[in-house]
Amino acid sequence: MECPDLSLPPKPPRIGVFDSGLGGVSVLRALRAARPDADLIYAADSGHAPYGERDAGHVLARSEVLTEHLLAEGAELLVIACNTATAVAAAALRARHPDLGIVGVEPGLKPALAASPGGRIGVMATQATLGSPKFRRLLDELLAGAPAGTRIHLQACPGLAAAIEAGEPDSPAVRAAVAPHAAALRAHGVDTVVLGCTHYPFAAGPIAEALGPGVRLIDTAEAVARQASRRIGARPPADAGASGGLALWTSGVPDTLARFVARGLGLPALPVRRLPR
Ligand code: DGL
Repeated sequence: MECPDLSLPPKPPRIGVFDSGLGGVSVLRALRAARPDADLIYAADSGHAPYGERDAGHVLARSEVLTEHLLAEGAELLVIACNTATAVAAAALRARHPDLGIVGVEPGLKPALAASPGGRIGVMATQATLGSPKFRRLLDELLAGAPAGTRIHLQACPGLAAAIEAGEPDSPAVRAAVAPHAAALRAHGVDTVVLGCTHYPFAAGPIAEALGPGVRLIDTAEAVARQASRRIGARPPADAGASGGLALWTSGVPDTLARFVARGLGLPALPVRRLPR
């Protein structure tokens, strides 16, 4: 007599992702493409955005609240889909959760150096990211190994993430927020620009237009997704063609996140639940 197979189907990997708001959806999109088998839980802290214009204590406290929430929702890997929160809070979160895999995101200086034809690189990011010791170390390391003559211009972009948070990244308000930063970058003659905030890829069109032709834009969302995928490891699919779920949480306006994710990921609008404020 044949014994029935009573083993449980393998559980899909469960990845918790957070950002100060809508920007991390650029990383979420790359994660879904890299790991269609994974259950993704996304927490947008839009009620507390922009992190880049808040003090470090606030960003750290919110990063801890969001991490606890994602763990309570069953996350086995955490992706900090926010350059600012990675710069400010990743080390503290790793110390506090030594058994949790944590993948952060930081401005893609190395890929920019590799892509730049003339070694003239601009970095668009929040003031909090550019002023952090973590970013300064990254920059020092890069400059130590860069060819002589490499020039890096750091462009803090106050107002830009907040404009994108309204949920319409191609709006006149976003174009107006891009304009002064693009003008400063043009004045420095950059040939390659790092999008060092996860909100900015959504404004890549207006940014590219304002920078003018021939300037390369560097976004690290796909590299972050590949790293998260490696950390989670290969799993046999629960059944052929099964796709992972997507749970959405926000401390801001649920409809704004629902619409933004639907547009960014090409999905029907999903329900959004409220995060603890
Ligand atoms: N998306 C965030 C980042 O990558 C921060 C934007 C903000 O809230 O200021 O830095």
